[in-house]
Amino acid sequence: MCGIFAIFSSSLPEADLRKELIACSQKLRHRGPDWSGYKVIEADESKNIPHPHGIAHERLAIMDPESGEQPLVSADGSVVVAANGEIYNYKELYHELKDPYTPQTGSDCEVILPLYAEHGPTLDMVRNLRGMFSFILYDRDADLYFIARDHMGITPLYIGWGNDGSVYVASEMKSLIDECTKFQWFPPGHIYCNKGEKAGQFQRWYTPNWAPEMLPGGPLPKNHYQADVIRHAFERAVTRRMMSDVPWGVLLSGGLDSSLVAAVCARNISRRSTSFPKLHSFTIGLPGAPDLIAAKRVADQLGTIHHAYTYTLEEGADSIPDVIRCLETYDVTTIRASTPMYLMARKIKAMGIKMVISGEGADEVFGGYLYFHKAPNAQEFFDETVDKLSRLHMYDCLRCNKAMSAWGVEPRVPFLDADFLQVAMNLDPEEKMIRKGPNVSKADTRIEKWAIRKAFDTPEDPYLPDEILWRQKEQFSDGVGYGWVDHLKEIAEKEISDQMFATAKNRFPHNTPTTKEGYRYRMIFEQFFPGEAAERTVPGGKSIACSTERAMKWDESFSKRADPSGRSAGVHDSAYGDHFEADTKIAGEPPSKKAKN
Ligand SMILES: *[C@@H]1O[C@H](CO)[C@@H](O)[C@H](O)[C@H]1NC(C)=O
Repeated sequence: MCGIFAIFSSSLPEADLRKELIACSQKLRHRGPDWSGYKVIEADESKNIPHPHGIAHERLAIMDPESGEQPLVSADGSVVVAANGEIYNYKELYHELKDPYTPQTGSDCEVILPLYAEHGPTLDMVRNLRGMFSFILYDRDADLYFIARDHMGITPLYIGWGNDGSVYVASEMKSLIDECTKFQWFPPGHIYCNKGEKAGQFQRWYTPNWAPEMLPGGPLPKNHYQADVIRHAFERAVTRRMMSDVPWGVLLSGGLDSSLVAAVCARNISRRSTSFPKLHSFTIGLPGAPDLIAAKRVADQLGTIHHAYTYTLEEGADSIPDVIRCLETYDVTTIRASTPMYLMARKIKAMGIKMVISGEGADEVFGGYLYFHKAPNAQEFFDETVDKLSRLHMYDCLRCNKAMSAWGVEPRVPFLDADFLQVAMNLDPEEKMIRKGPNVSKADTRIEKWAIRKAFDTPEDPYLPDEILWRQKEQFSDGVGYGWVDHLKEIAEKEISDQMFATAKNRFPHNTPTTKEGYRYRMIFEQFFPGEAAERTVPGGKSIACSTERAMKWDESFSKRADPSGRSAGVHDSAYGDHFEADTKIAGEPPSKKAKN
């Protein structure tokens, strides 16, 4: 990952603007510890540039570490680009250009320059980019700036406005909060330009046929299930992410999603004709955590060089304020799950690894959360997946990106590959629905994420052992060890008095916390990020594993619970099911059996 930052149309004199540019951009240096690049564009009335601009880039060098420095500048010096992310299809994009272009660097992001030359500041310029990216482009000839964010918001991006009419753009909120009176997250899948008909408006460029506006309620996709098609699409999504000029690895929790990622990488490596470094895999948990055990089993099976880290309750709890500062959220579930990830990122970095491939997004795409069991029909099921995907930039994308970037590690997420989504989201949602219970025969039974499990169920040449491929979901906060969430609740119980909690509404009228734990995170968040604009960048807290109002209606017992984690969703029935208190079980829900079709 990298950090990008810009100030447009500043009222500051150039020398001061440069100082401010450096000071703000420095706050992003954890994202890109390898190099910094600053570019100030001076005001020049004769060229119709009334105000100066500044563009900054903090680089994490993964592709072409020798010469891929940024901001990139076009050959004639008129266009400047600072980009964060990876464009996996950059070679294809170079080939498709009408005017042949000779790249000056090995950086995948350089392709933005010729694409801009060909398309200008348009939706078409970004439409064919495949990957995760946010970029800031400035064109001196037109005194124009053009900003874009990837389809899902895999990379973070914020935009803000200063009192003097300036516009700020930053990878993280921390570098613009002190400068802007008004700011917000930059909507995923959108562009923004200061010139043209739509000047100053966000325009959606990502308009997939399965949800052109990324809103629920559209027509249901109708593609029939074809295991091969899903498998090939996912394999492509994973292997195109193996592009790296520096050492990398995979995050492996031992759950289905990360194990599939690891299995595809391991297979690709083992079947290459040329030699390739062995795959590193990483896990973290409290001592004895289910994830540690499951991940080890997968790693042994795949033959990866496995690194299992443990953390203590104290280490986890001590880092909570840091996690909140890095993650820029007060969402309870995100903070609980981010902490082990944040601790692990530091260890990964210490190993000399700069990039990891990770399993985020599978639960949104395939309806893997346990409450999806309650979806009454295909439309509701589908709408919920679309809704979840459209909000992912505030939850798991944010968690994964910022927890890893806090230590200069780049995460890549193949389940959110736009081409893979095109296949997986066009699948008839009926095929993704969970089928089980007393009236469903064993042959017809489908557990959650059947569609992706079945795609990788190739007994003649298995990717994963059956007990992993068909292992039922572990909520992350439980997978890392059961003491973790309880410990966090205990701390909050001690720190937040009943009196404080009873009057939470007065102190936090917006998104009032519903638990003492939530109240505690809110207080910490407020110390780092005061003000209404900051609190409004975080979604509301009344949810179970970030589920929606829709899901609340599926089963009224969901909405009666204050605990926002998924672990009390009551349909959990793994070998660790004893952990769940009887009163959180949904009445009448039979304990499901591991089912394989
Ligand atoms: C491994 O992945 C690369 C990159 O996508 C691909 O070109 C290659 O064909 C794959 N190799 C095997 C043996 O699967």
